[in-house]
Amino acid sequence: MKPGIEWRQARAEADNAQFAADLHAALGRTPKAISPKYFYDEAGSRLFEQICDLPEYYPTRTELALLQAHAGDMAAQMGEQVQLVEYGAGALRKVRLLLQAMPRDSVQFVPVDISGPHLLGACDALASDFPGLAIQPLVADFTRPHTLPPCPAATRRVGFFPGSSIGNFTPAEADAFLRLAAAELAGGGLLIGIDLVKDHAVLHAAYNDAAGVTAAFNLNVLERARRELGAEFPDDGFEHLAFYNPAYRRIEMHLRATRPLTLQLDGERYHFLEGETLHTEHSHKYTVTGFQAMAERAGFKPGAVWTDANGWFALLWLQGPRPV
Ligand code: AVJ
Repeated sequence: MKPGIEWRQARAEADNAQFAADLHAALGRTPKAISPKYFYDEAGSRLFEQICDLPEYYPTRTELALLQAHAGDMAAQMGEQVQLVEYGAGALRKVRLLLQAMPRDSVQFVPVDISGPHLLGACDALASDFPGLAIQPLVADFTRPHTLPPCPAATRRVGFFPGSSIGNFTPAEADAFLRLAAAELAGGGLLIGIDLVKDHAVLHAAYNDAAGVTAAFNLNVLERARRELGAEFPDDGFEHLAFYNPAYRRIEMHLRATRPLTLQLDGERYHFLEGETLHTEHSHKYTVTGFQAMAERAGFKPGAVWTDANGWFALLWLQGPRPV
């Protein structure tokens, strides 16, 4: 396969107009809620990388250790001649461990991410560390219809969706994503990372770090609205709120109004009562068997499972449906 980077730019889904429209909709509904994808502008992507290194934030460390220990087995599940699609690629830190265990000249790597500039930097760095590798980055929102580069003949398309990013989806959205992935990955499979149900205190600490990085990450979505859209609101008007909701097995993140206030966007005025929140993120936690059952309903056949000694995080191999 041809080494080097070959760019593909989907229609700019995350441009200002889309953000503005979604933010208006978010502020107009009750309760107020916005998609977590808007965390990830340049500043937000950097803050997220800092989160990954926090002592309280166990998922990244745990998943990296699993990849380090088992990359060979995981690569073996994927096969020899593959197009490797990473959904929500980010900094490309984890996939390196996988790529190291794969035959470089028979892999085509397709990182898909919504943050163009961030993906560009990450791909440049990857290309210089993996000289023979064919990289076809795609700037796109992978939850919306998108076109992957065609899968070369005699090549299996396999997915990589680490980080428990699927936790951001509601169960209905996760189901929709898995069905879309099953269609895309027919004849191949999906390696997916999921964060597992555990002690509530461990979960709480991971989203309420002492250094306040998660708070800055959460608040960045409104700072971004200020920077990009000229939104107006008081400087200390919102505070970070994150808690585990056991009924839904999810961490919820919100931005809570510290007092009654008004947020202005494009001349529109949105009122917040004191304590009222803008819901910014869900982070669902799963059990291995619960997740496998959902994947099976979407068309996958559950295979190997890799998990840490604490049982805090798991990587699952899901075999895709037969190609049509
Ligand atoms: C990227 C969605 C997996 O839910 O743990 C980290 C995002 N939010 N800290 C997560 C996040 C706050 C993260 N995911």
